[in-house]
Amino acid sequence: MKLTLKVWRQTSPEARGDFVIYTVDGANEEMSFPELLDLLNERLTAESSDPIAFESDCREGICGACGLMINGQAHGPQRGTTTCQLHLRTFNDGDEIVVEPFRSAGFPIVKDLVVDRSPLDRIIQSGGYITAPTGSAPDANLIPVPKDDADRAMDAAACIGCGACIAACPNGAGQLFTAAKLAHLNLLPQGQPERPKRTLAMVETMEAYFGSCTNHGECTAACPKEISLDFIAMLNHDYRRARRSR
Ligand code: FES
Repeated sequence: MKLTLKVWRQTSPEARGDFVIYTVDGANEEMSFPELLDLLNERLTAESSDPIAFESDCREGICGACGLMINGQAHGPQRGTTTCQLHLRTFNDGDEIVVEPFRSAGFPIVKDLVVDRSPLDRIIQSGGYITAPTGSAPDANLIPVPKDDADRAMDAAACIGCGACIAACPNGAGQLFTAAKLAHLNLLPQGQPERPKRTLAMVETMEAYFGSCTNHGECTAACPKEISLDFIAMLNHDYRRARRSR
C-alpha cells in the first residue's frame, strides 16, 4: 500500500505546530496504525530526521495510551476501536490520511501527537480509594451483588481512560470518563460508604479541567469501549444527591 500521511508536527508545547506531508510506501493492510507510524519513523530515523512522537503501550486495546485524531475522528473511522486496533485494511491504497493529536484545552500538546492527559489521573486521584477494611481475601460470593449491578459495573470498568470522549466533545467535557470511573465503584456494595464524598470530589476535579456536558453524545460515539451515556445520567443523579447530603 502507498499512503500519504498529513501529520501534525510540533516540537514543544510552546512551539507553533503545522502539518507535514509524508508518503509512506511498503505498508500492508495487516499493519495497525501505530505500525504504520513505526514504519515512517524508521525511515525518518534513517534519514537523521526527528521521528514523530506518539504514544502507545499495550497495542491490544486495553491501556488507552494510543489515542490520535485520524481524519478528524478520535481513534479513526472504525467504531468501537482504539488507534492500535485500527488496521490499514480500513483504508484504500493511495488514501491521504490526516493525523493529529487529541484536541482539547484540557489536553495540552507535549510534542507532535503526544498530549498531556494527566488531568484524567487527577480526577481518579481525587476520589479513587475506599477505606473499608478488606481483611483477608473474602469468598467471591460472600457479598451478594445483584447481577444487573455487577454487569453495569463491569460495563463502566471497560473505560480505558484514553480521553477520546473529551477529544470528540465540542465542549471538551470530561463527563463520560468521570461517569464511568464513578459508576464502577458506585454500583457495588464496597463503593457505598464513600459514594457521596467520592462523587463530589471527582466531579469538582473534572470541572476544574474540562468543559460542561450538553448531551451531544459525541463522547459515546467516539469511545472505543462504547461506554453508554446512561452513566452520565447516573453521575448527575449521584452528584445532585451528594450535594443535598453535604
Ligand atoms: S496502545 Fe494500549 S490501547 Fe492502544
